[in-house]
Amino acid sequence: MSVDQNKHKMKEKIAQILGEINSFKAENKEALENFRVTYISKKGVIPALFADFKQVEPEMRKEIGMQLNELKNRAQEVFDEQMQQFETQNETTTDLDLSLPVDAMKGARHPLSIVREEINNIFERLGFVISEGPEVEDDFHCFTALNFPPDHPARDMQDTFFISKDPDVLLRTHTSSVQVRAMEQGEPPIRIIAPGRVFRNEAISARAHCIFHQIEGLYIDKDVSFADLKQTLFHFVKEYFGEDTKVRFRPSYFPFTETSAEMDISCNICGGKGCNICKHTGWLEILGCGICDPNILKACNIDPEVYTGFAFGMGVERIAMLKYQVNDLRLYFENDVRFLQQFEKA
Ligand code: PHE
Repeated sequence: MSVDQNKHKMKEKIAQILGEINSFKAENKEALENFRVTYISKKGVIPALFADFKQVEPEMRKEIGMQLNELKNRAQEVFDEQMQQFETQNETTTDLDLSLPVDAMKGARHPLSIVREEINNIFERLGFVISEGPEVEDDFHCFTALNFPPDHPARDMQDTFFISKDPDVLLRTHTSSVQVRAMEQGEPPIRIIAPGRVFRNEAISARAHCIFHQIEGLYIDKDVSFADLKQTLFHFVKEYFGEDTKVRFRPSYFPFTETSAEMDISCNICGGKGCNICKHTGWLEILGCGICDPNILKACNIDPEVYTGFAFGMGVERIAMLKYQVNDLRLYFENDVRFLQQFEKA
């Protein structure tokens, strides 16, 4: 064979293999391993070409040698890139196969949905009705109607995400805004719970998140007293945390309630003896509550001389943390299947 023929044969072969390598896409790890064996391994096509290279005429060695090296590097690159993809897929999805038919995939309810429904059910059995409202709110429903004066420092209690100032649009910082809407729309007696997503400008950490969930409750009727509030919450605690759970109320402050309190339950982990979860106090804070300030009834056209009411609000994540003892809030938002799968039977 002439020098030129030889040169062309080798060049054609290199070009052909390069084409095959560049269009290769492994469907799975086995296919990728086949690729390695066919092209890269000692008995593969590329080392065979290097063996042939020994016979190439000296004057063509430089050009063909460079092409051969490029081919070898490219094959290794294709292999490494695709291997990396399989490995990162494995890390994040374990054995999740999205191509399986739907009924073969195991689904699990999110722990926050489970907790929300359990809490909703307890209050529904007491006659509370679920009420929903917008997540994108205005200042009136989130603050003004709830007795937050314009420059009152109490607004700093809730780090608000403002969307625009005029017209004023913001992300609700609590579902008390739904209570305002229910009072505007309905006549007492009003007995609602407002589950939903809320937003606060907090740095994300194990203990705080800028998105979380609340369930707030409101009961307005003639002669509603603090005793009714206590009894309602006491019933909820016994149903949810068990018969033996104790409660205590500590005086607190919210602009929309007067009298205001925070409610603690006896630590369900150590039974009140003191542990890390209750910071050795024996008590866990679970919600805020109080008697509706007459000003908020007035703001919603309800006569405070005739009606009184109580309100309470709790964080769903907080309750879920106590129930499942998962103390890093971020896990509830990452949707890592390895975390979610643990709730399949819950
Ligand atoms: N809205 C309060 C909060 O988000 C909770 C609360 C509701 C307190 C009702 C008292 C009464 O922190």
